Amino acid sequence: MQDKRFYITTPIYYPSGNPHIGHCYTTVACDSIARYKRMQGFDVMFLTGTDEHGQKIEEKAKADGITPKEYVDIKVAEFKKLWEYMNISYDRYIRTTDDYHVKAVQTIFNRLYEKGYIYKGEYTGKYCTPCESFWTQSQLDENGCCPECHREVKEAKEEAYFFKMSPFADRIEALLRDTDYLRPKYRAQELINNFIKPGLEDLCVSRTSFKWGIPVTFDDKHVVYVWIDALSNYITALGYENERYDDYKTYWPADVHMVAKDIMRFHAIIWPAMLMALEEPLPKHLAVHGWITFNGEKMSKSLGNVVDPFILGQRYGADSIRYHIMREMALGADSSFSNEVMINRINTDLANGLGNLVSRTVAMVDKYFGGTLPTEREAGEFDDDLIAKATALRAKTDELVDLTQLNNALAEIFTVVSRANKYIDETMPWVLGKDESKKARLASVLYNLLETIRIISTLLSPFMPTDMPKVFEQIGAKDEHISYENAGKFGVLPLDVTVKRGEIIFPRIDVDKEIDELNKIIGENAPKTEDDGFTPPEVQPEITIDDFAKIDIRVAQVRECEKVKKSKKLLCLQLDDGMGGRQVVSGIAEWYKPEDLVGKKVMIIANLKPVKLCGVESNGMICAADDKDGGAVVIFPDQDLPNGAKVR
Ligand code: MSP
Repeated sequence: MQDKRFYITTPIYYPSGNPHIGHCYTTVACDSIARYKRMQGFDVMFLTGTDEHGQKIEEKAKADGITPKEYVDIKVAEFKKLWEYMNISYDRYIRTTDDYHVKAVQTIFNRLYEKGYIYKGEYTGKYCTPCESFWTQSQLDENGCCPECHREVKEAKEEAYFFKMSPFADRIEALLRDTDYLRPKYRAQELINNFIKPGLEDLCVSRTSFKWGIPVTFDDKHVVYVWIDALSNYITALGYENERYDDYKTYWPADVHMVAKDIMRFHAIIWPAMLMALEEPLPKHLAVHGWITFNGEKMSKSLGNVVDPFILGQRYGADSIRYHIMREMALGADSSFSNEVMINRINTDLANGLGNLVSRTVAMVDKYFGGTLPTEREAGEFDDDLIAKATALRAKTDELVDLTQLNNALAEIFTVVSRANKYIDETMPWVLGKDESKKARLASVLYNLLETIRIISTLLSPFMPTDMPKVFEQIGAKDEHISYENAGKFGVLPLDVTVKRGEIIFPRIDVDKEIDELNKIIGENAPKTEDDGFTPPEVQPEITIDDFAKIDIRVAQVRECEKVKKSKKLLCLQLDDGMGGRQVVSGIAEWYKPEDLVGKKVMIIANLKPVKLCGVESNGMICAADDKDGGAVVIFPDQDLPNGAKVR
């Protein structure tokens, strides 16, 4: 018998600021999967929550003159407001400050201690305050900074408890190498090479330098350090070691933990090790996605409010935002956010594609049959192909949802939207409508369209739960017609179905006007320059215009790009400079992956004397700006320019 329970989790978010669209991706994706599984008849537990302890929260609360608990209460309300706005159907919300969680974490910590997996030692290491992470020297980046956020780390030494990782190394390696626990699979090797092969280091699991954490019961100087507290949420929320809930037996092990790449290591190595130490079953899958980036960087609040999901939702509808972020993000890869791409996608897929299909079909049923189809039918050319594609769709979306490939599931659904729009062009209902003897054929065409729309909108409902009921209403689908079972069948609506014309569900957006408006909002809400913590370096000694004229800056397009062997910093780029091409080596490997650059237009200093870097010849230099954290941001022109164009 099929296992009909399904447990899915998001990470628990740090409420150290307000939520932004980057936080929305995982939550919306998990929500869509949870809804899809409920539609399939699964008994679903969908968990999300907030990770509320730690030094950063303690410091922020202090700065605001309130207690950490008061601080997190305010922020948690913001997260919950956003989830309500985005129509997130979580079944349970855990706060790590909840009493039952605190007590359960203490029990877990004590058990690991009693079993000999936690021991007391002294930690000397490099500590990154924003990430609340200790790093070893070998883990730091090339500038000796935090490998996660690339900010400065400080030397820190303190008495601490450690979790022994080495006993689990072989089993974790096998889990990553031989099973499909980690998705996408290609990330597994990266973890094995970087963390397991060099020898798993024990994990620091307590701190004495701040107080805002769960106290270690047998040593009250210490609070439990983030990961044992945070990761345990996935089981304490089910009732593990507490009386508050009693769902552990029903739902554990989790079917899917979904996280972004920055916390993959903790979920792929440390969490399995903790569960092995506790002798509990391991979760079935860890789905890792990339970041929503903005101008090549992980999106964050400091970018201003234009990406504030509330603002975007008010303008375009929460479902359109849900659709856009899920359609854009391929599992594993980053997805770059742009207002323009979002608006164009809403226009193309939702307004012109689905919206048009629904409004044209409903309008034609109204026009030719007064809103109710007659029962006579006449099959014709093109029907079989449309019906076959529509009825095959459910199996495809089932598979892709199970693989957590939501972008591909949506792409499949929209191929059927396009197929149906093409069917209108092929069957030309407006021609059939002119001929009284073709009424039965016309009724068949319109019925086939209504049925296809019913299937599409049923399968889209988990992704767009607010807008699809509007579609059902317009096509005359009642509750008894709308089900997972019926999404695999054709011929469900009654032959004499009555449609109901209604509002335009996805109005077309005026791209230029909206971009202007959004830019205005960015301007109003962008952090003021004096607040951004950046001090510009001193201006260089004056030069004349003639000096400047000696520097020949050109536009060029990246054709190929690869890492320079034996260098962590250098990328080798093959450029089309409009003058026969050239090779340039650039020290930007820390911030850009080769695939991020291929196809992009960049600016180069074209008359710089050639040099060899790590043995590779470089003919010129790529223009990049320093960001405030010392990173490099390549300057991309915001319009298409010919290769070789001169920059002045
Ligand atoms: N509290 C930890 C997670 C503990 S789970 C046991 C944490 N919190 S977080 O709020 O910083 O991040 C939560 C998740 O949101 C992470 O997966 C993080 O990568 C993700 N995102 C934050 N910004 C993001 C984007 N711009 N894009 C996609 N996901 C992003 O880490």
